[in-house]
Amino acid sequence: MALDDEIKRVREVLEQADSVVALTGAGVSAESGVPTFRGEEGLWKNFRAEELATPEAFERNPELVWEWYAWRRELIAKVECNPAHHALAAMERQQRNFTLVTQNVDGLHRRAGSTRVLEIHGNIWMVRCTRCGKVTENLEVPLPLPPLCKDCGALLRPHIVWFGEMLPRDILEEAIGRLQHCKVMLAIGTSSVVQPAASFVLHAKQSGAFTVEINLATTPNSQFADAMLIGKAAEILPRLT
Ligand code: OAD
Repeated sequence: MALDDEIKRVREVLEQADSVVALTGAGVSAESGVPTFRGEEGLWKNFRAEELATPEAFERNPELVWEWYAWRRELIAKVECNPAHHALAAMERQQRNFTLVTQNVDGLHRRAGSTRVLEIHGNIWMVRCTRCGKVTENLEVPLPLPPLCKDCGALLRPHIVWFGEMLPRDILEEAIGRLQHCKVMLAIGTSSVVQPAASFVLHAKQSGAFTVEINLATTPNSQFADAMLIGKAAEILPRLT
């Protein structure tokens, strides 16, 4: 089906839906200038996210891991939200029952005005003490390295879910609950290879939702999508609101 017709069809489905879940990934922030994780532009000093975003990497070389996060914080602080973020914030205002589940840690959805956001991978502007566990907001840019806990003096870590770590149980349960009861699920700008989010489309479909994928390319989840909108999130999403 031509993209215009497919967009029209999804718009109609959205207008009828009384509950919507949108799952976002790095592709949503790509047009703001935040690099995605996979593919050529996803590399940082020849490291892959999988080599830096692990508890083992942090134990081995906290300076290196913090350097990567400090670099990303500086980059994110400079960028602007794009029309994809704004369209999702508008959808929340239009739909009575709208939930945004994001894998992104950049905080750009909230900056664009979304309020019902489940950040399943954490937030790059939050830090956690490796000793006392206290979680605090930290907006310092540039961040003096290594960052230390103001209470106990121990090393802080990013409040981000790393590979091999559990997702926060309450947030995950809420996301799954929303998925099970939504009428429409949008999966936007995610490569659909990192679990558990990679299973969310199938999960929603099995619960009876109409599933929509918005991406530059197909993903392992495209086979479960009732509608596939190939293109830039910042161009397609504003046409759905
Ligand atoms: P990836 O980098 O794996 O995938 C980005 C996806 O966005 C790809 O499928 C691209 O085709 C698509 N894409 C790129 N630009 C786009 C655009 N302008 N419009 C629409 N789609 C676009 O990012 P994620 O799937 O989010 O974990 O990665 C999942 C997790 O892996 C991340 O949350 C991160 C990473 O390790 C943590 O930070 C814990």
